[in-house]
Amino acid sequence: MRHLTAADIKNFERIYRLNLVNGLPGFKPANLVGTAAPDGATNLAVFSSALHLGSDPALLGIVTRPTTVPRHTYQNLKSSGCYTLNHVPMALATQAHYTSADFGPEISEFEECGFTAVYRDDFPAPYVAESALSIGLRLREELAIHNGTVLLVGTVEHVYLREEGLRDDGTLDLAALGTACISGLDGYHEVLPPVRFGYARPGQPPVAQ
Ligand SMILES: Cc1cc2nc3c(=O)[nH]c(=O)nc-3n(C[C@H](O)[C@H](O)[C@H](O)COP(=O)(O)O)c2cc1C
Repeated sequence: MRHLTAADIKNFERIYRLNLVNGLPGFKPANLVGTAAPDGATNLAVFSSALHLGSDPALLGIVTRPTTVPRHTYQNLKSSGCYTLNHVPMALATQAHYTSADFGPEISEFEECGFTAVYRDDFPAPYVAESALSIGLRLREELAIHNGTVLLVGTVEHVYLREEGLRDDGTLDLAALGTACISGLDGYHEVLPPVRFGYARPGQPPVAQ
């Protein structure tokens, strides 16, 4: 087995290090973050950092890269207070990846990358019509990480999902929705149906359902 130390990682060439470290968390969720500027210009960017922070109230986090250069997603969600997370459909991985290109603020990644912006229920941020599951969030809190990245904590205000993705017990069938997941900064994966287990209790080895 290969052993890499912190010193090895520090000494790697920049892109090699970036590739390696981005893969370390394992498979990550694939979301498109939709926002709008005060003048109505829309913005869309692929993010793999979405994470669950609590269910009651429903809280999700995303991590934005250092805001030392203009980050349109960050600027927009700061000004409107709202943003959307939209699951990346595996069938649209190519377009989703394209949203990560450094487009100018005057260019909407919705149009440029082939997604449709839809506004729902008076929410100020655009959703992706092609996504099987979309979430409307309001920025609640910003937590600065010492390396310049920022954890943005949002409260879930709206969820829209296709019926086939919601099981009777409230769990989501993400495979049925065709949602992709991400490895590193370059891999998009189709997902197989899961092996599922009930609530684990000591002394009761889980049995697949
Ligand atoms: C697979 C993948 C995952 C990404 N995840 C994030 C992320 O979690 N946070 C982030 O700030 N940027 C992430 N990016 C980079 C943004 O997509 C990219 O910086 C984009 O241009 C931001 O657009 P904006 O300036 O319009 O906000 C990711 C890029 C790729 C290819």
